[in-house]
Amino acid sequence: MAHIISVTNQKGGVGKTTTAINVASSLAAMHKRVLLVDLDPQGNATSGSGISDSLKTCLHLFEESASLDEVIQKTVHGYDVIPGNYSLTQCDVKLMNHPRKAYFLKNSLLPVHRNYDYILLDCPPSLNNLTLNAQACAHQLIVPVQCEFFALEGLTKLLGTIDQVRKQLNPSLQVLGLIRTMFDGRSKLTQHVSKELETHFSDRVFKTLIPRNVKLAEAPSHGKPSMYHDKRSQGALAYLALAAEIDRKINMDSYEHLLE
Ligand SMILES: Nc1ncnc2c1ncn2[C@@H]1O[C@H](COP(=O)(O)OP(=O)(O)OP(=O)(O)O)[C@@H](O)[C@H]1O
Ligand SMILES: [Mg+2]
Repeated sequence: MAHIISVTNQKGGVGKTTTAINVASSLAAMHKRVLLVDLDPQGNATSGSGISDSLKTCLHLFEESASLDEVIQKTVHGYDVIPGNYSLTQCDVKLMNHPRKAYFLKNSLLPVHRNYDYILLDCPPSLNNLTLNAQACAHQLIVPVQCEFFALEGLTKLLGTIDQVRKQLNPSLQVLGLIRTMFDGRSKLTQHVSKELETHFSDRVFKTLIPRNVKLAEAPSHGKPSMYHDKRSQGALAYLALAAEIDRKINMDSYEHLLE
């Protein structure tokens, strides 16, 4: 059964999509079966995975005008994608009138749970119906955080939202971990914020640091995850390490759950 992980942070530009694409390709390189769902009208996870023209997107899934088979696209990078594009802006409005609007994605993906080890959801930088569908569907959240001054303030808001989601939509939703992205160890502020995160969230902060790395920023313009753009780059190696840490943590959590 698939572990469904939502990559989320309502703050924009913190590395959600970069994380979603590179964790998807790294897990696939570890022989895991991976589906990446692009829930962002910006469609960056779609284009960054090398899919240029997608006739069928998440919108068709939400409209029930296409089957899962028609919507899921294979990439040349070892994982599958349900594309997103600008048409997804209509989803938010369409979902508003749906009686079980928050559970739409969860129900749509049920038939493919057994086909994947991981389903990654790339969320938009806002709290709309698409994000709520992701949080209602996910088992776990991973939260990319840029170690800068406003990061902690944004996190407090995000944790408040997660509490509400647990109460109203998905009681078993867990925060798998926070990921420090675009990390620049030379900056005193970065070091300070990073320490604060470790103090407040201890083992919920991933040990792997994602460095600021130009190869990570370049790769999407070639429609490739970083490991296929420059496999020796610091960015590609960091995401491989992160994917291994995510896989370990998920298996550890499942094991501890069994012992409870
Ligand atoms: N570790 C990194 N090193 C250098 N550049 C990065 C890194 N991570 C992300 N970027 C760049 O920073 C920008 C924002 O990253 P990304 O699109 O992944 O963030 P996001 O949280 O998905 O943004 P949005 O909220 O708009 O969806 C992009 O141009 C991306 O290429
Ligand atoms: Mg994004």
